[in-house]
Amino acid sequence: MKASFDFLRKRFVDYKLDFGLVLGSGLGKLTEQTKVIDRIAYAEIPEFPVSTVIGHKGEFVVSQIGSRKGLIQNGRFHYYEGLEMTQLALPIRLMAKLGVNQLYLTNATGGVNEEYQIGDIMIITDHINLLPTNPLIGPNDDELGPRFPDMSMAYSPRLIKKALSIAESMNVSVQTGVYSCVTGPCFETPAEYKYLRLIGADAVGMSIVPEVIAARHAGMECFGASVITDLGTPGQIEEVSHENVLEVAAKTGKILGKILLKMIETNS
Ligand code: HPA
Repeated sequence: MKASFDFLRKRFVDYKLDFGLVLGSGLGKLTEQTKVIDRIAYAEIPEFPVSTVIGHKGEFVVSQIGSRKGLIQNGRFHYYEGLEMTQLALPIRLMAKLGVNQLYLTNATGGVNEEYQIGDIMIITDHINLLPTNPLIGPNDDELGPRFPDMSMAYSPRLIKKALSIAESMNVSVQTGVYSCVTGPCFETPAEYKYLRLIGADAVGMSIVPEVIAARHAGMECFGASVITDLGTPGQIEEVSHENVLEVAAKTGKILGKILLKMIETNS
């Protein structure tokens, strides 16, 4: 992490970064609604993996939203790409070391709550980690955070409340729910969707959780929101493709983007 941190610290010597924002599948266009100050391709950063997934760009964008400057991770890393959990955590840990203390995350997910519809926005209230591992396994970096971090309020109740009130003021109805994280890359079988619902999930996806664990370890306040791109509910299960997911995410992403921009702009 030292080489990538030194590189970014030099590059950002003129800015104070107030927030981090991780953009999920099909949601990359959000950067166009911000005032872009700088762009850094992952390939330029020492020690950095390159994102391999279509719909994920592979760059950090420094943007100004209102009076706040932050780092947008445009293109995330996933466990199914064959990366180590510490590589998924690296961008988040770098943000933490660069002074970011508030992290916003988005992604595309399958809905398993019977009340959800394709195109819904779900504000994440909690998660279930179904990955076979955890980014904090291994020696603990005490400078970053504690050995046994608390996860009782992984998703900031303050930011959830704020999102709900902004959505209401925009006349957008949103869902709130529990996100479960699986490895992928295949989508779920009907029996697996049923199982996820039974264990308390409202939605399922292949990201966010490793990043939130790393962020909470480093003491960052987290906010997560998903776009429901397909349904894993009885009678609603259809063939899913990554292209479908990207299409729905891009459409609904515009509304989610407006909520996020307002949240970031007015937050402190
Ligand atoms: N399952 C897992 N990940 C996903 C899904 C899904 O149905 N939709 C979008 N990402």
